[in-house]
Amino acid sequence: MTLPKGFARCMVDWQRLHGRQSLPWQNTQDPYRVWLSEIMLQQTQVTTVLDYFPRFLTRFPDVACLAAAPQDDVLALWSGLGYYSRARNLHKCAQEVMGRFGGAFPRRAEDLQTLPGIGRSTAAAIAAFCFQERAAILDGNVKRVLTRVLGYGADLAVAKNEKALWALAQDLLPQQAADMPRYTQALMDLGATVCLSRKAQCEACPVSTGCQARARGEPLAYPVKTRKLKRSSATLWLLWAVNAKGQVWLQKRPDTGIWAGLFSLPVFDSEADLLAAWTHGGELQYIAPWKHVLTHRDLHLHPIHMLGSEEFPPVCEGQWVDAHVWPDLGLPAPIRALLSS
Ligand code: ADE
Repeated sequence: MTLPKGFARCMVDWQRLHGRQSLPWQNTQDPYRVWLSEIMLQQTQVTTVLDYFPRFLTRFPDVACLAAAPQDDVLALWSGLGYYSRARNLHKCAQEVMGRFGGAFPRRAEDLQTLPGIGRSTAAAIAAFCFQERAAILDGNVKRVLTRVLGYGADLAVAKNEKALWALAQDLLPQQAADMPRYTQALMDLGATVCLSRKAQCEACPVSTGCQARARGEPLAYPVKTRKLKRSSATLWLLWAVNAKGQVWLQKRPDTGIWAGLFSLPVFDSEADLLAAWTHGGELQYIAPWKHVLTHRDLHLHPIHMLGSEEFPPVCEGQWVDAHVWPDLGLPAPIRALLSS
């Protein structure tokens, strides 16, 4: 495969003029900040991260603070960002940086990649931004940019094709290590603002003249990935017990499975199982069910509201939690929305 000439140079020059310049995690080489932002940005929009990132740093200003915090505090601050395995891994990662690396993030992508929640692309981003390592990133946006530029039509669902694209990404890197931060940011910015999945704005692209996909007249035909994610669905019955003091019965979810580690209303597989946990009688109110869409799964949520009393809690794990306390807990977004309704 022939590589487009001057690719890295064009990207770097374009970033200087047209890329994003003053996001709060840019213009720093502090690996803690860069790492935190990259994890937050993995599945979350920049505008949302702009809100969470400074709050998180205020509460956990450095990796030592984060490592020392209770997991519940980390999950609470992550509440609403979704994909909570990110928060659990973040916490574990901070503890490993303290334990295995004496509190300093390792500088090489290869070592960063051994930490929880840091995959190959995130490791490369941190190493490039903070330590100017010539390591290639290849997240979803960057795959789109590079497969289009290269006219790379091999199926990325096949492991060896993806591996070959990693090698090409490495070949395209700037020769000068000092250019790595801006080049890496350029790839991210082009993928996020110009070379979009359903709209390739080639007129705004700095590398359109050397772009194979454009030359072939079909920029949207790349990347090629055949395997469709299998979606599943689940029905969850939610026991929403409130007592006369306005307290709500919440339980901490197990460490694995749906909403792992978060606080939630008790969850049951069936209406019958839910009702078996409620011996108190009294008035039940069936809340209109709704569908909550996750990445790989649709959740059909069926809450039943019931008035309890302190002496007759539900017959399931949990505790009464004051109305002024639960808003600060790590709660799944749909549960928080329900409790606030
Ligand atoms: N998405 C992932 N990493 C990013 C970054 N550093 N800046 C903007 N968007 C991003």
